[in-house]
Amino acid sequence: MSAPLDVAAIRKDFPILDQKAGENGEHRLVYLDTASSSQKPRAVLDAMQTYYETTHANVHRGVYGIAAEATERFEAARAAAARFIGAPSPRGIVFTKNVTEAFNLVAYSWGRANLREGDAILLTEMEHHANLVPWLMLKEERGIELRYIPLTPDFQLDLTHLDQLTDGVKLVSVTAMSNVLGTLTPVRQIADAAHAAGALCMVDGAQYAPHLPTDVTALGCDFFGYTGHKLLGPTGIGVLWANEVVLDAMPAFLGGGEMIRDVRLDGWTPNEIPWRFEAGTPPIAEAIGLHAAIDYLEALGLDAVRQHELELTGYALRTLTERFGDAIVVHGPLDAAQRGGVISFALGDLHPHDISQVLDQHGVCVRAGHHCAKPLMRRLDVGATARASLYVYNDTDDVDALADALDAASQFFAF
Ligand SMILES: Cc1ncc(COP(=O)(O)O)c(C=O)c1O
Repeated sequence: MSAPLDVAAIRKDFPILDQKAGENGEHRLVYLDTASSSQKPRAVLDAMQTYYETTHANVHRGVYGIAAEATERFEAARAAAARFIGAPSPRGIVFTKNVTEAFNLVAYSWGRANLREGDAILLTEMEHHANLVPWLMLKEERGIELRYIPLTPDFQLDLTHLDQLTDGVKLVSVTAMSNVLGTLTPVRQIADAAHAAGALCMVDGAQYAPHLPTDVTALGCDFFGYTGHKLLGPTGIGVLWANEVVLDAMPAFLGGGEMIRDVRLDGWTPNEIPWRFEAGTPPIAEAIGLHAAIDYLEALGLDAVRQHELELTGYALRTLTERFGDAIVVHGPLDAAQRGGVISFALGDLHPHDISQVLDQHGVCVRAGHHCAKPLMRRLDVGATARASLYVYNDTDDVDALADALDAASQFFAF
């Protein structure tokens, strides 16, 4: 078990947090929008800067010193990306530009090779558009059937009819943690049901992998995607892990350099996995930044990260309900053990954008909107929510600042 997080020390590693914000710049910056994108520690910024200053060259091409070094560091990042999620080997790791591209890769390559009119795939009602629109596109193109695991009134997935829902499906694709509700998915149970039905299982780990210890073998899935910028890494890098047997049978996605073994004027032969799926110059500095982010999180210990967020989420839920009573509605489970630190809420009849704007005057950053989950907004019967999300650099002072700023918002709009 890792030591509890020392948030005061962690905050010193994040240059962006050391600035004033809000009206007249008189507040400290309280960043509560990690679910959208996390901040970056100096170790990540330095790793990318040092790479550009000392080592940059294209990878898998040059035989001179810095080119070989760049290739070595890029492939070391792949090994770290595999280790971080307990993947058996780096061969199953494909670097993409974000997790959205990872799911599009699966939909284009695996989906178009394996799905015909009438084939079904199973999703959930709480998916992010990234794990929804690629399948809706395939539905329009191929006439596939989309099914959805519904939500219970207490914001859990309703697995009562899982056997019927998985019957005859080719793929089950679920988020491991909702970016709106914070709900944690029983992935293993769903993956087992998928396999019993002869289907594959894909997991959207965008909100899960940065916050909980992750082991794709224990989760029992065949595909797992996550995105660098939500786990202290840079933008421009995502990770698709796939079972190597499944990945090796998949046709190439984008065509160009890197992804080929040979090209003639009358044809081409594909490269081995994982490079078959990495056409063109890859995000080299971003992979190196991701590696530094993974090292940083592993040094903190993912079990300590989860424990910290469990306690802080519990504190936030208690504080908000004690301070605002019936005026606040939290969209998500009220038991911190069943959820992550993503707290979507409504306050009185205030519009989420108004809430976010008043909070901004107090230096508090929260997201307002549909969170790229419009079907879920419809299911909740709201147009948008305000959402505060927590990470390793947040503490109870940040939650108190949120509650104070919400108080100010409710007084300003006098409800
Ligand atoms: C659950 C979930 N899936 C997918 C994504 C998409 O991530 P990206 O924009 O990095 O592709 C997000 C981002 O908000 C998310 O929360």
